[in-house]
Amino acid sequence: MQFALDKECKAIHGQRVLVTGGLGFCGSNLTRFLVERFDCRVTVIDDCSNASLPDALPRNVDVVIGDIRDPAKFETHLRANPWIFHLACRTILTCGTDPESDLTVNAMSTLRLLEWLRREQPAALQRFLYTSSTSIYGNCRHLPADELDPPHILNHYAATKYLGEQYALLYHMAYGLPTVCVRYSNVYGPGQTTSNPYCGVIGKFLDAAAAGQVLTVHGDGEQTRDYTYIDDVVEATVLAAVSPKAIGDVFNIGTGVETSVNTIAAEIRGLFGEGIRIEHVDRRDIDNIRRRALSPEKIRTRLGWTPQVRFRDGIRRTVDEGWRASALSVSPASRRPPAA
Ligand SMILES: NC(=O)c1ccc[n+]([C@@H]2O[C@H](COP(=O)([O-])OP(=O)(O)OC[C@H]3O[C@@H](n4cnc5c(N)ncnc54)[C@H](O)[C@@H]3O)[C@@H](O)[C@H]2O)c1
Repeated sequence: MQFALDKECKAIHGQRVLVTGGLGFCGSNLTRFLVERFDCRVTVIDDCSNASLPDALPRNVDVVIGDIRDPAKFETHLRANPWIFHLACRTILTCGTDPESDLTVNAMSTLRLLEWLRREQPAALQRFLYTSSTSIYGNCRHLPADELDPPHILNHYAATKYLGEQYALLYHMAYGLPTVCVRYSNVYGPGQTTSNPYCGVIGKFLDAAAAGQVLTVHGDGEQTRDYTYIDDVVEATVLAAVSPKAIGDVFNIGTGVETSVNTIAAEIRGLFGEGIRIEHVDRRDIDNIRRRALSPEKIRTRLGWTPQVRFRDGIRRTVDEGWRASALSVSPASRRPPAA
């Protein structure tokens, strides 16, 4: 992986990058990675609807507080940053109660950004990367799901994430914009909030274990997800953005490995001590997806990315580095070795 990324990375080294939603879990880790590894100058646009502004920012990071649904307000930034990573989104938790926000942020903002880029044709534009989601697969027909599997839309969020990615791909096909989409599986690691819906169970278990409380498992605990460590995810995201052969295409970012709730509970108990109790209670109606995993084959064969961090190691690192702290609020001392 190091090799694939380093080989392609020259294009983005020292460049100006725009990250929408850059105060959130994935966006803040991506921003930090771009600055530390590639010496990028990153401008974050975030409306703080699901994040807060850290007291102090790392070097080379500027934050603009604002709503990306009105890209015209950010014209200066859109012109100044040849690399655009569009991560801003409303969460799956609120999509059903506020479906219009879900639509306007997740899909409409994407359309407006793409329209602005098509109209204005900024000469310097290198890439527009859109982050889609494992949610679009719904209940996968087979596991692990690959990019050719049809979407199976089970909620508003999945519908709008799918629409956002389809717009991004359309604007490449129809107008030649250099777009690329990535579909994240369940991302976990330092900087995730306990309320993050994708990894709620990890955050909740960590909070409970740290407080010496019971880890409550709903149902039999054999429901699975594909948990992908944040550092692997940001590396794959940057690789997809910098690789010319990724343009106009969509890539799963996952491990292909299913991890059950029982396994998560056992690993966390292993880290906090055998005194931590695990208790099973009735299953919840909202747990309507039994198993999920994303095949990373396409990104492996096309771009050379493979996940490096096994769940056991990732969960240990999450505990060691602090699962609640924003990646941008911590000191910029690197969490990983500098580039060779
Ligand atoms: N975390 C995961 O496991 C996961 C899984 C699949 C897909 N994704 C995708 O990755 C991206 C990032 O997810 P995340 O987990 O970091 O979520 P997050 O909620 O932590 O980050 C999203 C950020 O967008 C900001 N935002 C929301 N509406 C905005 C608006 N109108 N204008 C500007 N900023 C706005 C929020 O304040 C937040 O900081 C999203 O596109 C999401 O769909 C994440």
